[in-house]
Amino acid sequence: MLKPTSSSSLGMLTGSKTALFTDELRQKIDQWIAKYPAGQSQSAVIPALHILQDANEGWISKDIMNALAEYLAMPAIGVYEVATFYSMYELSPVGKHKINVCTNISCMLNGSESVVAHLEDRLGVKLGETTADNKFTLKEVECLGACCGAPMLQLDRDYHENLTIDKLDKILDGIQ
Ligand code: FES
Repeated sequence: MLKPTSSSSLGMLTGSKTALFTDELRQKIDQWIAKYPAGQSQSAVIPALHILQDANEGWISKDIMNALAEYLAMPAIGVYEVATFYSMYELSPVGKHKINVCTNISCMLNGSESVVAHLEDRLGVKLGETTADNKFTLKEVECLGACCGAPMLQLDRDYHENLTIDKLDKILDGIQ
């Protein structure tokens, strides 16, 4: 977990927003910055957001985005634009496991509605919600590029394709 993300406490502690980052996080981000020409550190914004999200229990606060903007010497709005555009970034707390269900055209034609219905029923949450035990967040997403395996979902970093109700239960049983 990152250090506390209150801007005021940060200011009192250091005077710099980038003090949010540990040395380990800086090193990881710096490795990405080094892949781009000098003065183009903002090109590392996408991998840096992943690094920071992973270090903050799966989500990115506004303070973290502001700190990253400072670290990459780019306008904060540029970080917000990236973080709000891609569904892979979470801007509020999420459960320990994230289930992204694709409901785009191929998945929809192959039964994503019943996938969603079963997940909602079994987990006791609706799309966009997190279970009471904070174990799962259920999300609806656009095409994840695995249309030939429709219907599909992404559980954390893994894709699960050609879903059936039986297969869904086995996936959930494997982590419950
Ligand atoms: Fe679901 Fe493409 S439509 S992966």
